[in-house]
Amino acid sequence: MAARPCDGWWLAAAADTTALGTALASSCPDPLDGPRLLFLSGQLGAGKTSLAAAVLAGLGVREVVRSPSYALVETYPIAWGLALHVDCYRLMDAAEIEQLGLRDQHAPGVVWLVEWPERAVVALPRPDLWLRLRVLETGRHAECEAKSEAGAQWLARLLKLYPYVVNKT
Ligand SMILES: Nc1ncnc2c1ncn2[C@@H]1O[C@H](COP(=O)(O)OP(=O)(O)OP(=O)(O)O)[C@@H](O)[C@H]1O
Ligand SMILES: [Mg+2]
Repeated sequence: MAARPCDGWWLAAAADTTALGTALASSCPDPLDGPRLLFLSGQLGAGKTSLAAAVLAGLGVREVVRSPSYALVETYPIAWGLALHVDCYRLMDAAEIEQLGLRDQHAPGVVWLVEWPERAVVALPRPDLWLRLRVLETGRHAECEAKSEAGAQWLARLLKLYPYVVNKT
């Protein structure tokens, strides 16, 4: 079947997922001007944690990034304040997010990376970017939607650094 044009990136290998994450970090609008939220969706094994790890590395996190599946949230100090890596996969109830006290972290200087956000969307602050990964026969497809003004700025800067590859599905 002929490939149909689509907006998004074709990430042929894990290194491309890392490159997209690096570009997401360098295009992020200044977190001191407001919290920055990136939602990461995609089936099990789609590459959400790989992408988050690359974003965190790009934000200056030097330690090895663990999947926060069990802890639900891992926090990392960054130059602007804090990065939160949240994984909602194991949430039984969106209200559990409230119990983590994360609402207080919806503040300037904080960058949020949220895996499986759809499981807790009612309890989470509004994202700036919502990135969706899809598993292909070879590699992954990623698409990204801006959900706020800061998100639109973020995406515009990202596309300059890491332009879409079209005609791949
Ligand atoms: N573009 C890519 N092409 C091929 N493999 C990739 C790509 N990006 C990431 N991977 C690989 O996919 C595997 C799963 O990645 P990862 O753990 O990040 O997925 P995940 O979406 O976080 O899964 P989960 O939902 O279980 O948390 C890893 O081995 C990673 O190296
Ligand atoms: Mg994961």
